[in-house]
Formats: sequence, C-alpha cells, structure tokens
Amino acid sequence: MDHFTYRNGALCAEDVAIADIAKVVGTPFYCYSQATIERHYRVFKEALSGLDATVCFSVKSNGNLAVLRTLANLGAGADVVSGGELARALAAGMLPERIVFSGVGKTEVEIEQALVANIRSINAESEPELAAIDAVAKRLGKRAQVMLRINPDVDAHTHAKITTGLNENKFGIEWTSAHQVILRARALAHVQIVGLAVHIGSQMTDLAPFREAFIRVRDLVAMLRADGIAITHLDLGGGLGVPYDGSETPPPADYGRIVKETVGDLGCRLAFEPGRVIVGNAGILVTKVTYMKDGATRRFVIVDAAMNDLLRPALYDARHAIVPVSATNEAPEVVDVVGPVCETGDTFATQLSLAPVKAGDYLAIRTAGAYGSVMASTYNSRDLIPEVLVRGHEFAIVRRRMGLQAFLDYEQFPAWLGGTTEQRS
Ligand code: LLP
Repeated sequence: MDHFTYRNGALCAEDVAIADIAKVVGTPFYCYSQATIERHYRVFKEALSGLDATVCFSVKSNGNLAVLRTLANLGAGADVVSGGELARALAAGMLPERIVFSGVGKTEVEIEQALVANIRSINAESEPELAAIDAVAKRLGKRAQVMLRINPDVDAHTHAKITTGLNENKFGIEWTSAHQVILRARALAHVQIVGLAVHIGSQMTDLAPFREAFIRVRDLVAMLRADGIAITHLDLGGGLGVPYDGSETPPPADYGRIVKETVGDLGCRLAFEPGRVIVGNAGILVTKVTYMKDGATRRFVIVDAAMNDLLRPALYDARHAIVPVSATNEAPEVVDVVGPVCETGDTFATQLSLAPVKAGDYLAIRTAGAYGSVMASTYNSRDLIPEVLVRGHEFAIVRRRMGLQAFLDYEQFPAWLGGTTEQRS
C-alpha cells in the first residue's frame, strides 16, 4: 500500500497534487511520500515482533538524508556499504549501535571509519578482510566486533545481476568453510566474531530461499556453539521484493514467520537489512512528455527523464508501471515510453497501454523509490535531478538539482590547455 492516489483525476502524493510540485520544481524529479516510508517500516518491524530485531535500512537503496532521518526517527539503523554511506547514516542521525557495514571490498580507510564510529558490526566477507580489520583495530587500540558473512549457496530465484548467495557470486565465505575460518580467526587478537550474516539476493518474490538460507545459518550456529564459540548476533540481510507490475509479492508477515521458525529460538540479537521493501513503492519519478513521435511501427512517447535518472529498465530490463499524472477516461493507446539519451536501452516501457498523452503532460514512473536516484549518473551531461519529500499537505525539496554550472566547475583544464596552476588540487 502506498500514498500515491488519484483525487478528482489528479495524481497526488499524500495530500499534494504531483502537478503542483512539478510546476514549482520542474521535471524530471523524484517524489517520496513520508507516510508511505513510515508505513512500510512499521509493517516490516511489526512482522518481527517478539524478536530482538533491529531494522538496518539498506542505504544503498535510497541514501537521501531526509529519507534516512525519517527512518532514524522511527528507530531504524542502517546497512552501509561504503564510507560515504556510513557518513550519510551518521549525518541523518542513525545511531552507530544500529549500523552494520557490509561489502566485499572495504578499504582500510573505511574500516577505520567504522571502528572510530563504534558501529554495531563490520560484516567481514573474506579472510584477507579479517586480517585487515585486525590490523586497523590493533593500530587504533580497539577490538572490532565482526559478523562473518557466509555464502549459503542458495538460489534466490531473482535476476542474475542481483543474486548474491550462490557459490559463483563474489559475496561471503562459502558456508561449509565458515566454521574453519572462525576457528582460525580466534588467533586475531583485535577481532571478535560475534555472529553470522547472510544476504542472498534482492527483489525476491519467493520466500522458500530465505528459509533454506536461514536453516543453513541455524545449522552453523549449532556447530559453532558446540565448539564453544559464542554466537550472539545474526544479520539476516534484506531482499524482500516489491510488486513492480502490480503482481503479488509475499507480505512481510510471512517473511517474519519464516525468521521466527528458523532462527527465532537461538537467543541472538537480530539485524535485518531491508531496502527496497521500505522505500520502493514510496517513490515515483515524475517526468514530462517532450514530444510524441510516430515511427514506422511504433508510437513513441519521448519524455524528459532518461536512463541516467532511472537505470533499472536499461540495466535489468525492469518494467516500472507508468501512469498519467492527470487521469482521463479516453481509450488507451499502445506506445513505447523512451528517454532522450542516445541509446536504444533508454526505454522505460515497450508496447505499453497508456491513456493518450501529448507534449507537456506529466507522467509518473512508479515504484522508483529504491535504486532510483542513488543509481543516477550524469551520462549525456544531464543534471542530477531533484528529490522531493511530501508529508501530508507539505512538500520540500530534499536534494537540489545539481545544475550545469556546478558540473562544469568540477572540471579544470591542465596548464597546457590554458588552465592555471592554482586549479590543481
Ligand atoms: N544487504 C546487502 C548486503 C545487500 O547487498 C543488499 C542489496 C541489501 C541488503 C538490500 O536489499 P533489498 O532489501 O533492497 O533487496 N540495484 C538493484 C538492486 C541491488 C541490490 C544489491 N544489494 C536493483 O535496482 O534492482
């Protein structure tokens, strides 16, 4: 459920008409509904009731500071995968005790950042990384709290590019060798392995792989405890899917039941790293029709948003629902919705049934709150577009348009092309 609904034919985010925002902000822009974010967080948290669970929102899905603060105010922590995301989470007010740091390639600088901030856990993904954490912690005179991310070799049944829990994927430590790795890690004086982490994929619409992975975690905990190794924390990752095309996705309550059935009785503090299920449906990308164009076999709706603003269709063949901002009763026509970037992949929809639109009309590309703005680039020298947060009757620009001048100012000429030496830094 989300708070993007039509009122008298006008698409609104909560109580604000999208067209009114568009007139002020200009298109394209991302628009988030705070009530939707809050609702999704509460539903997810409620699904875990009775467990000692911290929801560490996956910052990679949406790193906007205002979005993060909305979640921090509800008690959420963060799952971060870079020093940049860690800085964002802290700047938004997330408590270090509720932050976990994932990723296969943390640098020494990032490890130091995490240790200085005293976050809950660094989730280590290899033995060389454990050694690096040990060395940095030693230099800082600290003992690092670490969870070992295991790779359970379970197929998440999702897109190949966002499957992370198979042996052929770069993530985690192969689960059958995790036991030995943890035994060896006992020699590291500045690392304390307090738990296990697992994350097998994203946009999962089948719950069975979660159960399979969590059972492997459970079995490992039993083996480790039998060896006298205290496992007090588990991080069960994220991955729950959202309905991009109106299809059914499993409710968080069913996911929660699986968690309780598999690891609920282990007495561990649990962390979860949901991203998409919290913010996916809480955001739309608003765009304006630039031209209508009739090709030999297709009718094209050319819009002012492009693959650089929302990469998912080009990268994963994702299909986001597209709806008019002003509803009409006219019979739909079949169109392709495309952006202006000079690549055929810059296509948001093919052979879509859409109410007739004309140049100047606004369209909303739905379910764009997760992995939308965060994956944007400036390809074709296009601006980074604004982000807007709506709450009830109010809206605020929570990220400004980057602007062409800022972009140009970021570059400089070398001296031999007319630049000055002061420019070098
Ligand atoms: N934790 C870890 C360790 C992850 O790698 C991810 C996502 C998450 C949590 C959050 O997963 P979620 O709950 O959002 O499914 N750009 C792609 C998605 C990449 C996901 C990568 N990892 C897309 O647009 O579909």
